[in-house]
Amino acid sequence: MARTIKNNVQWVGKVDWELRMFHGDELSTHYGTNYNAYLIKEEKTVLIDTVWSPFTEEFLRELAQTVDIKKIDAVVINHGEIDHTGALKDLMALIPHVPIYCTHNGVKSLKGHFHQDWNFKPVRTGDTLDIGNGKKLMFIEAAMLHWPDTMFTYMTGDNILFSTDAFGQHMATDLIWADLVDPWILWEEDMKYYANIIAPWGKSVDAKLKEIKALNLPIEMICPSHGACWRGADVPKAIERYTAWATNYKENRISVVYDTIWGGTRTMAEEIAKGIRLADPQVIVNVMNLAKSDKNDVATEVFRSKALLVGSPSHNKCALSSVGAFLEEMRGLAFKGKKAAAFGCYGWSGEAQKRLNDTLKDIGFEVVDEGIKNLWEPDGAAIAACIQYGQEFAGKVAHDPVVQQKTICRCRA
Ligand code: FEO
Repeated sequence: MARTIKNNVQWVGKVDWELRMFHGDELSTHYGTNYNAYLIKEEKTVLIDTVWSPFTEEFLRELAQTVDIKKIDAVVINHGEIDHTGALKDLMALIPHVPIYCTHNGVKSLKGHFHQDWNFKPVRTGDTLDIGNGKKLMFIEAAMLHWPDTMFTYMTGDNILFSTDAFGQHMATDLIWADLVDPWILWEEDMKYYANIIAPWGKSVDAKLKEIKALNLPIEMICPSHGACWRGADVPKAIERYTAWATNYKENRISVVYDTIWGGTRTMAEEIAKGIRLADPQVIVNVMNLAKSDKNDVATEVFRSKALLVGSPSHNKCALSSVGAFLEEMRGLAFKGKKAAAFGCYGWSGEAQKRLNDTLKDIGFEVVDEGIKNLWEPDGAAIAACIQYGQEFAGKVAHDPVVQQKTICRCRA
């Protein structure tokens, strides 16, 4: 059902209450998501984005209750990913000659997905579309936030920034506005979204935010393509958070992640964590078994942390596969400015720890020491050594500059 955003701007998207995994099975969505699409009815009628393909029929049915689809003058596609363009082919079958405004890369991704020669109108930053009643849509290319094809659309007069994935959250809500939803879930999902989707492109985020600031546009609302929209005082706060997250973000937290075969490396993880807490009662330590935890929640926690300890027993001369997969995830997310070290039990020659340290260095962590490894199961002396190691590690990261942040990330099993 369409909902009014402001004046002649309506939300015409889909609330997906059921979704629990996204991007195939790559991303957990504990609270579902929204596919936000927007309809502008000024002198010209413009649709911004659509919804994911399973909801095409419902989307078109409800859109037809809001507007005569044949009277749509233009379609704006801010980003070609299928969760926002899934209904495009069926829509364009009804209005085949209507222009589609998107970036040059957008043309490539739409042709790549749909193999159609629609009436594309590729745009560059600063290009505008006059929609009448004294209002315009201004396009702002936003490559790598988070695809090369991404752009923002800014509506003058109503001062709305349609920001596609940036500033979004995977959180189903029919309340539209961020100030109306549960703030704990909102903050958690906002950061999780950034950490797991936007973070690899932090430099682009930083540059784009500076560019938008320099444009000096009054922004009263930010309407992303997932989750709740930001209005009023939430707008500068949302921008402030993205500004902080884009550059070497870290709080006074340490993540201790591991996998274990018979429990020895788990014991090491827990005793190291005790040592950290003894040395620095202020630091928040989260201990997470990678085989039992939600990988996206773990990634969010690592994003918040100033340091990371990674543990695995040596198994077939390697680390356990859950730890290997985690480090591959870390390579892609490319978090910056974090310190690290490895630990783990071994029974024979103990290769895993060096492999982990080498990988940590390779993917951009600053490895502060060789970590700690233990032959066979930890006994009293080994436990004491782990506690001491935790204390020493805490000392090595104690003076890293951090952002004060009180919110909690729940790491689900
Ligand atoms: Fe929500 Fe990149 O699509």
